[in-house]
Amino acid sequence: MPSIIIDSGAAFFKQPALPEHEKEAAKRTAEGIAQAIQIMGTLAVGISPFDLTEGVEYLKQLATAKKLTPLSMNLYPNQGTDPIFRPYLVTQAGKLEIAVLGLTGNQPKNRNRHDFHVLPWQETLETVLKQVEEADMIILLSSANRRTNEEIAQKFDNIHIILQSGQHGNNLAPVNINNTLLCQTASRGKYLGLLQIDWNESKTWGEDTGDILQKEQDRLDRINWQIGRMQKRASTTELASNKQFQQLLQIKSESEQTVQMLKTNNDGRQKACIYRNSFIALETSLPEDKTIKAIVDESRREVNQIRRKAAQKRQRKQKGAISNTNRQTFPAALQQMVGWKACKECHPKQVNFYLQTNHSRAWQTLVAKNQQYNPECIACHVTLPTYDANKIQKENLLSDIPSELQGVGCETCHGPSRGHSERAETIAPTKPDQASCLRCHTEERDNNFDFSRKIKKVACPPS
Ligand code: HEC
Ligand code: HEC
Ligand code: HEC
Ligand code: HEC
Repeated sequence: MPSIIIDSGAAFFKQPALPEHEKEAAKRTAEGIAQAIQIMGTLAVGISPFDLTEGVEYLKQLATAKKLTPLSMNLYPNQGTDPIFRPYLVTQAGKLEIAVLGLTGNQPKNRNRHDFHVLPWQETLETVLKQVEEADMIILLSSANRRTNEEIAQKFDNIHIILQSGQHGNNLAPVNINNTLLCQTASRGKYLGLLQIDWNESKTWGEDTGDILQKEQDRLDRINWQIGRMQKRASTTELASNKQFQQLLQIKSESEQTVQMLKTNNDGRQKACIYRNSFIALETSLPEDKTIKAIVDESRREVNQIRRKAAQKRQRKQKGAISNTNRQTFPAALQQMVGWKACKECHPKQVNFYLQTNHSRAWQTLVAKNQQYNPECIACHVTLPTYDANKIQKENLLSDIPSELQGVGCETCHGPSRGHSERAETIAPTKPDQASCLRCHTEERDNNFDFSRKIKKVACPPS
């Protein structure tokens, strides 16, 4: 089956503007993504405002270096009359000529000054559509918001598909608006959107018959399988008098008619075009592509290096351990912590038990993946006085975590315990409940967390 791979945009950066110290790492990540997108055979990528985080020149260089084709009809230089990137491309898929167009959404309000601006779609789309009107199918890669895309679909009846991109998108089943399918796949590479299309000269989408047809075809397959099995077991003469078999033949013939009808749009008019949409969850259990995995690993390793160097450069005053006398150099919230080593003296049994659990190795796990400098990973693999993301960021708790707090330590479950370890009789540590586990064992990270079962694996033995 002929196919094309396209990316609707917002692929490269997660933020519209980057803090200075994150720039190098973010660019290295973008390069890895661009390379992977190219190797996957992606024909074109849309340009979202998020792809312009580092400016137009950077995106141009990235596209050239990685042989990508970014599309945007409405991204213009402040000086000059031609769009900065190609507005569209035309490609062949089987017998079909397909035009792919790019439309960039509005720039989010942003402190940076830019060397480009985004024209409203009203000023560009009509002209570009004229240039591609000969194509059999027209696809728009759009990072405009949903309302705008709906308006576009209403206004033009020759755009057949709009692939919408955005930073915080979910999977949306295609919606047919004025013969335009408005489609969106969830952001951040968690899913692959697969749209299977049976296209013909009517250029008209049938009303979601794809699903019904698929179900009917599945049913027909099952009937045929049953018939085949019966034929293997019994002779033709036996079957001729077998009621169940005769019934199956009847059902089969009806099902075949339904399939035919769905395919030809029963009233004999030209058959409508059929689509079938699915989202493929890109779970870690899926087999890895070796080439892509190598790119991902290499990118991660280099990004980790960049962050490691940045951390060293910051040359924080605090050296050494939180249990030492110089703990005042750590953020105030961390100073209530002592780390697991300080518990050894009085609770050797629990410490020994703890060291057998994977919580004690959670930091090593990140190191093994070259991710111990990634702010997106650290919080759940270390011991903190709070897991409130805002507080963590505000108090800068994650940069230079002292070594005794690396890993999911005692104080994750029992609360900050400096006070207790200095005056055990006065301050009792807390005990963990389900909610305290769910801060890290989120649906996304651990989709079958069962408290009563899992607590048994990590609850310390009595003294
Ligand atoms: C100087 C000794 C000492 C140190 C150090 C110490 N504890 Fe304790 N801890 C005690 C005593 C004493 C008790 C109360 C008696 C008992 O249950 O063993 C206790 C009780 C506990 C309890 C049970 C509380 C309860 O309500 O039953 C927990 C949990 C605990 N400690 C955790 C820790 C952690 C975590 C650390 C290290 C950060 C630590 N302790 C360090 C002496 C200490
Ligand atoms: C700070 C985040 C965090 C909290 C809070 C947390 N966990 Fe974990 N947990 C982890 C991480 C990370 C791992 C994986 C460690 C690894 O393999 O590197 C893990 C692993 C586990 C495992 C597998 C351990 C093993 O030895 O195989 C169990 C069971 C578990 N957690 C239960 C719990 C329970 C029960 C709670 C609440 C009482 C809890 N966790 C609280 C982060 C957390
Ligand atoms: C929201 C908290 C959270 C964040 C953020 C997080 N992890 Fe984890 N991680 C966990 C928990 C919980 C487990 C244990 C899951 C289980 O027991 O099934 C875990 C387990 C792991 C494991 C070991 C199990 C496995 O799947 O192989 C690895 C590796 C890992 N995490 C890497 C990472 C990396 C890399 C990042 C950043 C990109 C990250 N984690 C961010 C909570 C988190
Ligand atoms: C994943 C969570 C978790 C971690 C990490 C953890 N504990 Fe515990 N701990 C528990 C639970 C659960 C209990 C049992 C509480 C109860 O009695 O219901 C417990 C009980 C205890 C007790 C009381 C035992 C008794 O006599 O009843 C002590 C002391 C203790 N832990 C110390 C520690 C120390 C020290 C560490 C680190 C080396 C540690 N814990 C790490 C969850 C944890």
